Amino acid sequence: MIHIEKMTTRHLADVLLLSVADEQQRFVGSIEEILKSANAQIRPHVIFVEGIVVGFFLIDTIYAKHFDFAKKHSLGLRSFFISKEFQGRGFAKQAILALPHYLKETFPTHSIIYLTVNCQNPVAKELYLKGGFEDTNNLYHGGPAGPQHILMKAIEPSIGAENE
Ligand SMILES: CC(C)(COP(=O)(O)OP(=O)(O)OC[C@H]1O[C@@H](n2cnc3c(N)ncnc32)[C@H](O)[C@@H]1OP(=O)(O)O)[C@@H](O)C(=O)NCCC(=O)NCCS
Repeated sequence: MIHIEKMTTRHLADVLLLSVADEQQRFVGSIEEILKSANAQIRPHVIFVEGIVVGFFLIDTIYAKHFDFAKKHSLGLRSFFISKEFQGRGFAKQAILALPHYLKETFPTHSIIYLTVNCQNPVAKELYLKGGFEDTNNLYHGGPAGPQHILMKAIEPSIGAENE
């Protein structure tokens, strides 16, 4: 069973051990690089399985300021990954499925979450679709490693969330 927590300094040593396979580096980079982009608005999170840190992601609370395509009051899921030794065991899918509940509790004023996923990363795109994200059928061209699909999900299926 997976568990999501905000990352604090007590997680740092474990988080620094996380890594993806060499061929996956272009999609997220190294954990050292990712942590440099974390701050009070772009908040780091850890994914636990039975007390072990297996993965990581950032929640960007000012996503619309960084990305023109995003609506106001939206969050962004960034740098999501499962460490290579824990991949293929369903942990990513469990984490993505657990995310809306966690976000609703933690960020109650935000109604939508976006992400971008590289067009050359079909495994991740499939994961997000299985986790309930929708393809907006638009591409983001500002990333360093080629075009990316823009996906979104209502955090709470509330009437009007689409119009915010
Ligand atoms: C994408 C990633 C998070 C998937 O993590 P994971 O824990 O291995 O995924 P899961 O075991 O939960 O599998 C979830 C789904 O991903 C897909 N998937 C996972 N591994 C796969 C593989 N080797 N081949 C094809 N599809 C695969 C499947 O659709 C799977 O669903 P299913 O179990 O119903 O078939 C992981 O590969 C990763 O960290 N990659 C590098 C970083 C990255 O690309 N992040 C995304 C940035 S947008």
